[in-house]
Amino acid sequence: MSGTLESVIVPTTPFDDQKPGTSGLRKKVKVFMQKNYTENFVQCILDALGEKLKGSTLVVGGDGRYFSKPAINTIIRIASANEVSKLIIGQLGISSTPAVSALIRQEKVLGGIVLTASHNPGGIRNDFGIKYNIENGGPAPDQITNTIYELTKKITQYKTTPSLETDRIIDVLGTRTFNVEGRTFTVEIIDSSKEYVALMKNIFDFHKLRALIRGTDKRPAFHILLDSMNGVTGVYVRNIFVEELGASPDNNVRRVVPLDNFGEIHPDPNLTYAKDLVNALKADSSYDFGAAFDGDGDRNMILGKNAFFVTPSDSLAVLANNLECIPYFKKNGINGFARSMPTAAAVDRVAAKLGKEIFEVPTGWKYFGNLMDAGRLSLCGEESFGTGSNHIREKDGLWAVLAWLSIIEHKNMGVEDILKEHWKLYGRNYFTRYDYEECETESANQLMQHLEALIADGSFVGKSFCSGGKSYTVAKADNFSYVDPIDNSVANNQGIRILFDDGSRLIYRLSGTGSSGATIRIYIECYEKEDVLTDAQIMLKPLVNIGLEISQLKKFTGREEPTVIT
Ligand code: G6P
Ligand code: ZN
Repeated sequence: MSGTLESVIVPTTPFDDQKPGTSGLRKKVKVFMQKNYTENFVQCILDALGEKLKGSTLVVGGDGRYFSKPAINTIIRIASANEVSKLIIGQLGISSTPAVSALIRQEKVLGGIVLTASHNPGGIRNDFGIKYNIENGGPAPDQITNTIYELTKKITQYKTTPSLETDRIIDVLGTRTFNVEGRTFTVEIIDSSKEYVALMKNIFDFHKLRALIRGTDKRPAFHILLDSMNGVTGVYVRNIFVEELGASPDNNVRRVVPLDNFGEIHPDPNLTYAKDLVNALKADSSYDFGAAFDGDGDRNMILGKNAFFVTPSDSLAVLANNLECIPYFKKNGINGFARSMPTAAAVDRVAAKLGKEIFEVPTGWKYFGNLMDAGRLSLCGEESFGTGSNHIREKDGLWAVLAWLSIIEHKNMGVEDILKEHWKLYGRNYFTRYDYEECETESANQLMQHLEALIADGSFVGKSFCSGGKSYTVAKADNFSYVDPIDNSVANNQGIRILFDDGSRLIYRLSGTGSSGATIRIYIECYEKEDVLTDAQIMLKPLVNIGLEISQLKKFTGREEPTVIT
């Protein structure tokens, strides 16, 4: 132990833009680099924890994006001065969001600080983020993030230990202790993938998965291609798929070295930003399966042969329908299912058939936590490429791929055939999302106000809209609000819903994860019982046109085309 280190109080002034969004505080790196900006926010997180903070242990992890190291050093110094007794930190600051969640639960610690802006681009010109997770391993609920925000508006000082030597501290595995003001302060640097790999081995049958990937005398190797998009999952993909499951480092995985700027790509697994993977599968039909992950490893995109695309909403429904082939669910049973409100309702049909509870929550993984803790939820997902279960309290990209491969192994069917079988049984919830990124905040707000006014008018319900020979009649319209069934907390203004009498839906939301301007999202869904094999964009075109007409999007934003279609 080194000599006694002294903590000091540093005067500071508030910033007025530290309100956490859907998933923590996300801003340009340059914003976090301002004097005291990161310090203020970290101090406010710790202050929001109240009395529990003293003597506590916290986990620190993230996707290793640019600015992670200085931010971790700041956290170490501020935590030590605020009487945190221990920090458990992923080596080099690397620990995927699901691995942080697993670690918080495993080690039974107070919580964790996750340094990531998820799927947003990284590097000095791009985004950084800080998010707090609570002791169940999940993102802090609104009530805590609101407290943090209130504190950021009136902070006057933070406490730190400037002489605590943090240089290269996160590079080397092992435990270091310091004497801070007569207290022992411990920093443990761990390989965060170890516990995570052990957890996955507990959930899935690795023997069967290995046989699927390697092939057996009875069945040829199932040819996969996993794309980590230069994000944090590279480490986990190598450890799980290459080391444990025998995948080829040359042919089955790509972009598996985490880079602090993600190689200047947008690490978001969807048809636009993961186009490279889509093209690779289209170019080589020997691939049976493809998957991509986002920067911090909680999102996933699933593709079949020839880049057959599985919407996240369908992915959730297929998993729900086949969970019993996964050892974890055999052992623990299956409670209810849940999806975020904009996610297509395919899983609702599975829940109805299997007699399970189904919940519809606002966008944001934090809304699933209470239901899981109360034992009412086993599997959930979001249209935004998030899928996960109650094994942790975050969505989990690698888990989703292992779950899909388990089902493929069990059914001995390819992705496309599984989907076609599913649609034949349940009908198909066609879904697409149109994103208009970086619109002017003012015009995006005007569009939402226009929609508010429209649905407030009593004559809107009952109105019919026609396009492309199809007609839709409004059955209900509202701004979604949610009452948590466990703690009765209320979340209002979660998105404008226009529900038509045949079950079709148009949803409008402003994104809560951007770092500049406003992103307008339009979610479009219709249900077909028989006609299940049409291209989604063709099937949904009339409803898309109606959605654009109702919102007058072109008038408000001047945009002709969306930036991204998923
Ligand atoms: C993050 C959250 C998700 C959420 C998604 C979309 O990934 O963890 O729960 O669905 O952001 O958020 P946005 O507000 O941008 O639509
Ligand atoms: Zn993410």
